[in-house]
Amino acid sequence: MFGVGALLLKSRLPATSFLRPVVVVLSSPAVPRQARVNMAEEAKKQAAYTAVDNHVQNNQVVGVGSGSTIVYAVHRLAERVREEKLNITCVPTSFQARQLIVLHGLMLSDLDRHPELDVAIDGADEVDADLTLIKGGGGCLTQEKIVASCARHFVVIADYRKDSKALGQQWKKGIPVEVVPMAHVPVSRKIVQLFGGEVNLRMGVAKAGPVVTDNSNFILDWKFERIHCWKDVNVAIKMIPGVVETGLFVGMAERAYFGMEDGRVLLRDAPVN
Ligand code: 5RP
Repeated sequence: MFGVGALLLKSRLPATSFLRPVVVVLSSPAVPRQARVNMAEEAKKQAAYTAVDNHVQNNQVVGVGSGSTIVYAVHRLAERVREEKLNITCVPTSFQARQLIVLHGLMLSDLDRHPELDVAIDGADEVDADLTLIKGGGGCLTQEKIVASCARHFVVIADYRKDSKALGQQWKKGIPVEVVPMAHVPVSRKIVQLFGGEVNLRMGVAKAGPVVTDNSNFILDWKFERIHCWKDVNVAIKMIPGVVETGLFVGMAERAYFGMEDGRVLLRDAPVN
């Protein structure tokens, strides 16, 4: 469906525009904090709107990701359903996504009724040059990976801060790993034995004790020390008893949309193997 390469789009232009990517990096410290926040929010919105406009058509089943960027995608989806009278069925990737679907009056389904999706749209914490992703900053990685794996096309939406050449350049909190609670200590030790770095049990912010996922599990955040072969690391960590899922999404995303600081949208396709 998609070609290779990267291009910059004015938001909501069709994916066939061929402009050379020119990325203007504004120096962040000179920009006041609130202006940076507004810029990032606008970038999320532009990426989300462009992806929904380019990838959602009538009579489709759409996977709805989790996080703050997906909120804009659901707004746009609801707008299009209303204005264009589209028949869209949504499969959520979390409790939050389910709430968003319901609050926007969209049709809610699940993988029992719709085990095959036309497209899944989701945010990411970091996206590298090959479209390998770190996900799970919001703790929803397991359901997100399941839903993405059931979709014919998996599209990522993010702002410019998530775009990196190699994982770890932008996202400093590590790779999330969902674990069965009683296994969190042995799994942490095994990850460090295998790959080094540091593993932390994710703690709640407005709650004492660890974060508990939508699946009643814990989240470990593995801070790695160097670039690895992420495909091998993903398999090795998944093989540790007690691991439910990793936040490494390797070879899953087909296309990423990055909202940029100047209002444009950068588009990147996965490499062809
Ligand atoms: C949640 C996720 C999110 O998609 C990821 O954290 C990005 O979130 P945001 O859009 O808020 O930056 O993986 O588990």
